[in-house]
Amino acid sequence: MDLGRELKSFSSDPVEWAISLRERWGERGEQRAKRSHTPHFMPWPPCPYPIDLQWEENLHETIGAAWPCPDQRRFHDLWEEVMGSVQAQVNEVGRGVFGQDGWADGDTALSRTVYCMTRHLRPEHLLETGVARGITSRFILEALAENGHGHLWSIDLPPPGEPDIHGEIGLAVPDRLRPSWTYVAGSSQRRLRPLLSRIGTIDLFVHDSKHTERNLLFELEHAWNALTSGGAVVVDDVDLNCGFHSFRRTNPEAPAFIGRAEPLRPDVGRQDDTGVLAVALKRRGPRDGA
Ligand SMILES: C[S@@+](CC[C@H](N)C(=O)[O-])C[C@H]1O[C@@H](n2cnc3c(N)ncnc32)[C@H](O)[C@@H]1O
Repeated sequence: MDLGRELKSFSSDPVEWAISLRERWGERGEQRAKRSHTPHFMPWPPCPYPIDLQWEENLHETIGAAWPCPDQRRFHDLWEEVMGSVQAQVNEVGRGVFGQDGWADGDTALSRTVYCMTRHLRPEHLLETGVARGITSRFILEALAENGHGHLWSIDLPPPGEPDIHGEIGLAVPDRLRPSWTYVAGSSQRRLRPLLSRIGTIDLFVHDSKHTERNLLFELEHAWNALTSGGAVVVDDVDLNCGFHSFRRTNPEAPAFIGRAEPLRPDVGRQDDTGVLAVALKRRGPRDGA
């Protein structure tokens, strides 16, 4: 434990510090399992995910969207524009670059997925966890602007005790897109339940916050309960814990798609040296007319 860091974190927000202490205590078991599987501590836990090379095509087909996807051309143009503007404002982009914990900027696979899902499902209420520079927020908001409706709520814990980088939070999101965006500062443990009781239901959920099994399952449990049928969850970095396997065991009826991440540079030690993302769909019930 880094005492200096704990002190800074405590003085910046004692409530979040207490929550993080409780969470780290609850995560001891999964950290032990990771260490015993990979003695030289690699982030890959003992439960690799089977990657489907056709996952994107299969996902489009399952939700009834065209493939090849016509929206992906627009995505690629936007990607160049977004990366250009972010790179002009920060020292480095990619994996491991944001804050002392080394949070990652959203990569192309994740950004393309949230963009496509927002375009194709035309959701009204969207919720994401984990903002950092705001790459996924930007792509969701661009898609909402093209749809002409919908609102995004983003829960994000600014790195505690690191006020010097708080100015970078959400910098990928231009003012013109902000009317459709509500940024909620704080951990998902603290903010998710009250926010969901205020919003009611959601149509799309994106997890890209703290990638522990405990946190992922907490977020997925609440998001899934609030998700409308026909809605979807997008989960980044599933390879960092075994949580998505247990989510699938609990929800075997939900079609799931597992794809390879696309980091700017190889991420050695992660599954396939890339990492893995996943999407699960909440099936429409008979009363929804499917
Ligand atoms: C991987 S980054 C998000 C990247 C972002 N989605 C993008 O596309 O650029 C994770 C973010 O989640 C925040 N975070 C960490 N723990 C959190 C928690 N318990 N609840 C909510 N946000 C958290 C981090 O400070 C960081 O800003």
